[in-house]
Amino acid sequence: MSSSYWASLVVVLVAAQAACSAADPHGSQPGGRRAATRAAAGLVVGGGGGGGSDGALRQLSQSAEAGGKRCPPLSKEILDKRARNNTVMLAVMNEAQWDFGMNWRHHVGAAGVDYYVVAATDVPTSRRLAAMGEPCFERIDEETQKLGLKWGEEGWRRMTWSKVFLVDAVIDWGFHLVVSDLDVVWFKDPMPLFQAHAAADLIFSHDGTSSHNEVGDGGLEATASDHYSYNTGVYLIRNSAVIREWAHAYKAFYDKCKGHDQVCSYEMTRSNGAIKTHPSDPRIVGTWGDKIWMGVLPASVAQSAHSSFLQQLHQVKKVDRYVVHMTWTYNGIPGKRSRLRDMMLWVDPPEYYSDVSLVTVDLQLPEPRKNLNKWNENEDIISFHLDSIHAQLQQAYVGMALATAAGRAFMLPKFACYCEKIWYSVVRCRTAEAQDMPLPVRCPQDYLFQPGHYDDDGHGTPLTMREPSFLDNERTPAAVKDSVLVIQPSAALKCSDCVQEVAEKPPGVSMVLLVPPALTDAQLLPLLAPYEKFKVWRLSFEGVGDVARAYAGFQDSTEAQQFNTRMEHIPTNFCCRRAEESPRYHKESQDSVQLNMTSKFRFEGSTSGTSRAL
Ligand SMILES: *[C@@H]1O[C@H](CO)[C@@H](O)[C@H](O)[C@H]1NC(C)=O
Ligand SMILES: *[C@@H]1O[C@H](CO)[C@@H](O)[C@H](O)[C@H]1NC(C)=O
Repeated sequence: MSSSYWASLVVVLVAAQAACSAADPHGSQPGGRRAATRAAAGLVVGGGGGGGSDGALRQLSQSAEAGGKRCPPLSKEILDKRARNNTVMLAVMNEAQWDFGMNWRHHVGAAGVDYYVVAATDVPTSRRLAAMGEPCFERIDEETQKLGLKWGEEGWRRMTWSKVFLVDAVIDWGFHLVVSDLDVVWFKDPMPLFQAHAAADLIFSHDGTSSHNEVGDGGLEATASDHYSYNTGVYLIRNSAVIREWAHAYKAFYDKCKGHDQVCSYEMTRSNGAIKTHPSDPRIVGTWGDKIWMGVLPASVAQSAHSSFLQQLHQVKKVDRYVVHMTWTYNGIPGKRSRLRDMMLWVDPPEYYSDVSLVTVDLQLPEPRKNLNKWNENEDIISFHLDSIHAQLQQAYVGMALATAAGRAFMLPKFACYCEKIWYSVVRCRTAEAQDMPLPVRCPQDYLFQPGHYDDDGHGTPLTMREPSFLDNERTPAAVKDSVLVIQPSAALKCSDCVQEVAEKPPGVSMVLLVPPALTDAQLLPLLAPYEKFKVWRLSFEGVGDVARAYAGFQDSTEAQQFNTRMEHIPTNFCCRRAEESPRYHKESQDSVQLNMTSKFRFEGSTSGTSRAL
């Protein structure tokens, strides 16, 4: 792949980000940077729980915040104590990242990595980590806070560099380092990678959506070049004299380079001349004026949220993955969190899984089109996707209305996406590099919704949401999974105030209940009261010819209005058509399309609040 190809791709990325992500200031752009710090609002303190000792740790962390001991200052002794095979995994953490930090910690532990140490950059984080007995040290950074932590602000830029400063501070002590962001899940101990790639001074993860490696080849990316869009969210450093020199130069570059750590790494390190490959390993290339050797882990092994969730590239390539980093997610920190939940990699407290009653819907999906994966016309697939996704969102709207009226959480169904959402124009509804990815894919929440908008203040009735994979999750108890009532509005019932239990039931279903179609909440909920004990209510549209006749929503028009306010607030946009193609289809102003929960109908209610009691 020529370097000019990459250079032009980067230009496209940057331009399209500006065009399409105005509402995504915290997006995790490929090659971009995670807005790791946000206001602490919505922070799940100790969300890394999950029972057992984690649960105990969570309680400890909550009570220990106020005072007590703190992490010691950074010293060689602390790293010495933690190092295994002279190797240390380092992460930098602040207060706003607490829940991500706990989630990271959970998976690091599960992967058997016992040589990590966390740098706490503020006092509350330091106190909590110390109270938990976590291996940590303090690197208080007041400067960063002062400079502003919003995406693009100087404090934010400085925060992306915090790992570089830390590497600079410890590199002379001689340890090999694994540097890790916190919006990362480790599946396997990365230490064997040092042995497997003995000639590499630096091993980066990859930020792209393809791998040229053959099936079964989990080695470094075969067609490496230092112009790869490698990712600095996860990387390995083998200690040597020259890498120490590089680390100090990288840190010194902070004042000169105006970008975040990753783009500045490209700027400083990339060679301009021909690619020089290592004499004994062609997958390792020279960089930084060919003074150091680097390799890039393929996207099948060190993954993004795209290569893992959408492409399932580890399965396609039949390799074991080491790590997934939440790049290629949308709608900020809540989007990352929801993607981790979609992937069953976010560890919520036990009550999240056990203490919940749900409504969900059995989606009626569009007829699959046999040759869709061979279609070449972008617009054909985009139109199909938008029609299909709007039909699905309309069904979810009905289910969310029932959930809201019943005071239950809504479990998102497994939406089928026939097109990707990305920051720039899709090519055949995929990223330019992922043209082989079969459609449909299961939609991540952040492709359809702003997960931060489910229950924020001032936008109508809040929704409690559960992810589509909730019932597949091993953390969800059988008492929830096996308690399923299918509610089937059916015109076969000749009454408007009766229900009928069906003798036959499909596998995994506790009971099928026929209810009259088109009832309002005031009519339907009393009929469902005897079935409250079922944890999962699954609304089926099979007994009605049109989704609109399944359920009539709110009787009370104020409640309907409050609900609709929420429904207008939660969707995100589809992005993007190709600007150069849109005129041919008369879609000039529709490169990005705001998704709509109510493209076909919406509930308006029929009475005012006071008449509800009648
Ligand atoms: C750690 O070092 C020991 C010997 O010092 C070696 O046998 C082992 O393979 C190393 N482990 C890893 C994961 O590199
Ligand atoms: C959703 O679509 C309906 C029908 O086209 C339209 O009336 C409504 O204004 C749209 N809502 C939003 C928020 O775009």
